[in-house]
Amino acid sequence: MKLFLDTANVEHVKMIAEWGVLDGVTTNPSLVAKEGKDFKKTILEMCKYVPCVSAQVTATDFAGMKKQGEQYASWHKNVYVKVPMTTEGLKALSYFRSKKIRTNTTLIFSASQALLAAKAGANIISPFIGRLDDVSEDGMGLIAEIMEIWMQNGFDCEVLVASTRHPRHIVDAAKLGAHICTMPFDVFSKLPNHPLTDSGIKKFQEDWEKVSKK
Ligand code: E4P
Repeated sequence: MKLFLDTANVEHVKMIAEWGVLDGVTTNPSLVAKEGKDFKKTILEMCKYVPCVSAQVTATDFAGMKKQGEQYASWHKNVYVKVPMTTEGLKALSYFRSKKIRTNTTLIFSASQALLAAKAGANIISPFIGRLDDVSEDGMGLIAEIMEIWMQNGFDCEVLVASTRHPRHIVDAAKLGAHICTMPFDVFSKLPNHPLTDSGIKKFQEDWEKVSKK
């Protein structure tokens, strides 16, 4: 399973990329607004570190999505145009596929939306599991349903588990065979940690110092 960082913070991308485990970045308008930096510069900086960076269109009609998406794709070969799951978005996905512009469909909340986006030609679909959990639905259950559909249909489209909230979400997504999982910096930072690793290192060091003093 590929691991993506969900951020518009270039320093965070650089930091995790240095671990050698980062496969891509997802951004969205809220994350970009939070950092308050130039959008194009941010995307281009991130493209130096990873082969897949999602840049989201803000237009809601096909013509506007087409214009923004073509512009973003021209910035760098690593850019994936992020398109919202609407009927206008489906038209845009189909158009971008015909132009070999790669896409990620965002705001997927049901299996029928996932199916339509894949059929329209999306390269990636992003079901948002945390936001489903927030309204008492079963986010990981949706991933299980989508992976079952994918097993039967063989779509040329990767399933990206988005809106993750904690490390267990990443482990469960991997067990279900999801292709990609994106997560915020604080969740990514928790993945390498375990208190027994810390206490184990401390003990090894203490024992080693005792011997070396003899
Ligand atoms: C994914 O591409 C989205 O940017 C993201 O995962 C949304 O997560 P949130 O529900 O924490 O905002």
